[in-house]
Amino acid sequence: MNKATRKTIIAGNWKMNMTPSAAEAAVKETAALVAGKDGCETVLCVPFVDIHAAVAAAKGTNVKIGAQNVHFEAKGAFTGEIAADMLLECGVEYVIIGHSERRQYFGETDETVNKRTKAALAAGLKVILCLGEVLEERQAGITAEIVSMQTKLDLAGISADDMKNVIIAYEPVWAIGTGLTATPEQAEEVCAIIRGVLADLYGDTVAQATTIQYGGSMNDGNAAELLAKVNVDGGLIGGASLVPAKFAKIVDAAQA
Ligand code: PGA
Repeated sequence: MNKATRKTIIAGNWKMNMTPSAAEAAVKETAALVAGKDGCETVLCVPFVDIHAAVAAAKGTNVKIGAQNVHFEAKGAFTGEIAADMLLECGVEYVIIGHSERRQYFGETDETVNKRTKAALAAGLKVILCLGEVLEERQAGITAEIVSMQTKLDLAGISADDMKNVIIAYEPVWAIGTGLTATPEQAEEVCAIIRGVLADLYGDTVAQATTIQYGGSMNDGNAAELLAKVNVDGGLIGGASLVPAKFAKIVDAAQA
């Protein structure tokens, strides 16, 4: 096991927060704080309507801009959806797919997550693919089975070559927005399980090269010990990414 074979990525997920003017200010503030911190890739995943302002504010900095979802069709009668080429043309580099809030509140399934991932990769976006168990599954002792199944279903038909543009975010649903962070040992255990599944699917080289983030109440106080784990290659951060000073401290913790 060697972290040097993969990129550490700290990504903020702003969820449904920030108007375009607030986004512009927050991206600028974040970019100023993380300037020169090249020990990790720093990404902010913003609401669709903020993309224009966020991309402009991030220009010339080391902050990359991501979106929070993408549709699987190229265009057509899909009211309210956004296509991959629309995101690309706006300067988006990353897209979150399969976030548990999408799965929980908007009927996202492993099948639609897989379709969206394929469309995003085909268009040239980098995908932050989210998966993780709910509390009942952890209590029933089936976390390994659940995350293994999600990994296989969500990546079905995706080639080893495409995996260089896939980041997995392990996000235990019980830890998201709850203040209940997984312990570093729990995060490490499940990220290692996911890496094992990637090794089965794609071989060891791809598995060792794939960034696997932890997400779920990661903050400036707990990031360092989570990121110290050999299989935890970054974080997907919700609440704490809304405050540039806190988010920048997480980026600092990833420089080691
Ligand atoms: P949180 O959200 O950091 O607010 O728990 C993480 C996420 O949903 O990606």
